[in-house]
Amino acid sequence: MNIRDLIPETLQDLNMDPLWLPFTANRQFKQQPRLLVSAKDMYYTSIDGRQILDGIAGLWAVNAGHCRAPIVEAIKKQAENVDYVTGFQLHHPAAFVAAERLVRITPKGMGHAFFVNSGSEAVDTALKMALAYHRARGEGTRTKFIGRERGYHGVGFGGISVGGMVANRKVFGGALLPNVDHLPHTHNLTANAYSRGQPEWGAHLAESLEQLVALHDASNIAAVIVEPVAGSTGVLVPPKGYLEKLREICTKHGILLIFDEVITGFGRTGQPFAAQTFGVTPDLITCAKALTNAAVPMGAVIVRNEIYETFMTGPANTIEFYHGYTYSGHPLAAAAAIATLDLFASEGLFERGASLAKYWEDAAHSMKGMPHVIDVRNIGLVAGIELEPLPGKPTARAFEVFLKAYEKGVLIRTTGDTIALSPPLIIEKSQIDQIFGTIADVLKAVA
Ligand SMILES: Cc1ncc(COP(=O)(O)O)c(C=O)c1O
Repeated sequence: MNIRDLIPETLQDLNMDPLWLPFTANRQFKQQPRLLVSAKDMYYTSIDGRQILDGIAGLWAVNAGHCRAPIVEAIKKQAENVDYVTGFQLHHPAAFVAAERLVRITPKGMGHAFFVNSGSEAVDTALKMALAYHRARGEGTRTKFIGRERGYHGVGFGGISVGGMVANRKVFGGALLPNVDHLPHTHNLTANAYSRGQPEWGAHLAESLEQLVALHDASNIAAVIVEPVAGSTGVLVPPKGYLEKLREICTKHGILLIFDEVITGFGRTGQPFAAQTFGVTPDLITCAKALTNAAVPMGAVIVRNEIYETFMTGPANTIEFYHGYTYSGHPLAAAAAIATLDLFASEGLFERGASLAKYWEDAAHSMKGMPHVIDVRNIGLVAGIELEPLPGKPTARAFEVFLKAYEKGVLIRTTGDTIALSPPLIIEKSQIDQIFGTIADVLKAVA
């Protein structure tokens, strides 16, 4: 069956009512839908036959570009070979190969990976691992998690509890995990506007962790979780020295440090992981998205060897961690991960991203002085362009920019009033020019 044969000729014939879209204004969308029907390398093709340049790698995910032949081929072959094997007391070889490929590029000493199916699952898995680890070491009182304001860690109950996005939390307030506190966020336009790369100001904000330790006592705190670069709240690059300070305080108090690298992983900041870019090694890393180039859902939690070894004690016939998903290490995902990680290596895509970072930075900062722009932030192949909100209508101006850029054939993403850009690492300089040129034109046109 070719799914394309099922798609009606005209949009009017497509019944959109049964589908409830995620993180979308459903009624508005169905009035004026934006449907993409195919993709190749840097471009999507829309249902009306237009080429749309992908400035956001799908959603911080398609780092090798769309529909890359080696990945497509690996998925096809695996689908014919083995559709499904559970990972519970059974498995299939590709999952082991995928884990081995993954830990080749992780920071030194982080040699073990647990597979899940999404970033949200990776976060909840990491939080559970932290609790179980402390308990296994006889420190079962360590049950508190510290997240950060303006953090995004997916949409599971664990993730929204440690996360710091009010819209994602307020409706569910009564059901959030009770044992959570938050660090302050690091965003400060007065001190840091138009910083290139890591801002100078803000390392001292990590010291709030000492205050939380003084308040709750280290013996009650399991883990701190942060995104090395906060993405979904508008590209917040860590101030110089900030992550180092968090690491130092966590180590001093025996608190695990979790880096949520769901968007910063796989070359986004110039190295395989942001941990390597910033030279700070956490205890656990959560990742997903570009692990399979987003072609099949998959995530992972990567842990320091000592954490894995702590679990691998007790009688060898006991299950060490009562956790896992039906699709953990799914054959198609494992095949996609192997092909993706091999493609990153064979094409030197992380190095390519790093080598384009300066050009990207200059292009992003050329937005300074454009109408409505109040800040530009960047690191690796990520940029945030913050706009002055329309009075009384937060997010409206940025959404208008998104719609207009889409009409002009460039896919951007907006979060709040910030344009967040994260193209595939295969982008060409002319395409970087096209993205920022289009944004400039649109900014001049919107109210
Ligand atoms: C930092 C971070 N963590 C977790 C997630 C959740 O990932 P998923 O949507 O795959 O559950 C995201 C998604 O964008 C993310 O940016």
